[in-house]
Amino acid sequence: MEKGKLAVVTGSSSGIGEAVANLLAEGGWQVLGIARREGTISHPAYRHHRLDLSDTAAVEDYFLGDFTRTYPVQGLERVALVNNAGLLDPMATVPNLPMAALTAAFAVNTVAPMWLMGFFLRAYAGVALRIVNVSSGAANNSRPGWAAYCATKAALQMAGRVFGEEAEGGYPSGIGENAGVLSYEPGLVDTAMQTLIRQTPEEKFPLVRRFIGFFEAGKLQAPGKPASDIRDFLESDPDTPYREERISI
Ligand SMILES: NC(=O)c1ccc[n+]([C@@H]2O[C@H](COP(=O)([O-])OP(=O)(O)OC[C@H]3O[C@@H](n4cnc5c(N)ncnc54)[C@H](OP(=O)(O)O)[C@@H]3O)[C@@H](O)[C@H]2O)c1
Repeated sequence: MEKGKLAVVTGSSSGIGEAVANLLAEGGWQVLGIARREGTISHPAYRHHRLDLSDTAAVEDYFLGDFTRTYPVQGLERVALVNNAGLLDPMATVPNLPMAALTAAFAVNTVAPMWLMGFFLRAYAGVALRIVNVSSGAANNSRPGWAAYCATKAALQMAGRVFGEEAEGGYPSGIGENAGVLSYEPGLVDTAMQTLIRQTPEEKFPLVRRFIGFFEAGKLQAPGKPASDIRDFLESDPDTPYREERISI
């Protein structure tokens, strides 16, 4: 295990995040996975921390406290943050959006990843820092029943674009000097999230039949494909502080 490379992967208990965490651990990174459930990966380079990203106070406490003490910048050459954890709920038409679930969706899909971007930029100024924000086609395409998901993903994408502009202008104290952020849309991936979509009643998600059709037509790719795209970015030295990548459906 190469001690100089640290990756934090949110949502590492299943799907794309689990595949990314596995690939990085196999590839010489020390990996810290974050999720509410226990981790499934038993690689010596992998550690797991159970954290509910909807609890923004707990996120701040953990990263400013235990995490900072455990993973100081000294000795690290390259640091990665994969903002992958995400949720579709609440799937409901706009008149039916429930407050608690809407707030949790913004916390997990937008607030926690935006705050983590800033925290990593401050904490790891001076090292090669690569951040991937896992986005979705929903960030740029409205879908009935997905107001929460579309809005949270659009907001995260926009935060990345703002970072790109700020970084072009430069931050003080070396912050962002060797940082690269990728907003990555993985296309259709065969994970629990797609299973949930197919099981959603049409009154909550009117396009459900279209997604059942994608599945039946074999259009879903395995999580290994987005995982290797994300790994390739984390190991690269991009020319610009921010870019976007879309896997077309
Ligand atoms: N699958 C697709 O076709 C597709 C397409 C476009 C974009 N995406 C994006 O890809 C990312 C990964 O999704 P996936 O498809 O791999 O789905 P998944 O298998 O359902 O994984 C979602 C992950 O997010 C974690 N998570 C959810 N709520 C959390 C919370 N409150 N606190 C901490 N972790 C939380 C889950 O862990 P716990 O439940 O253990 O907390 C799980 O590890 C998401 O951002 C999703 O929007 C997926």
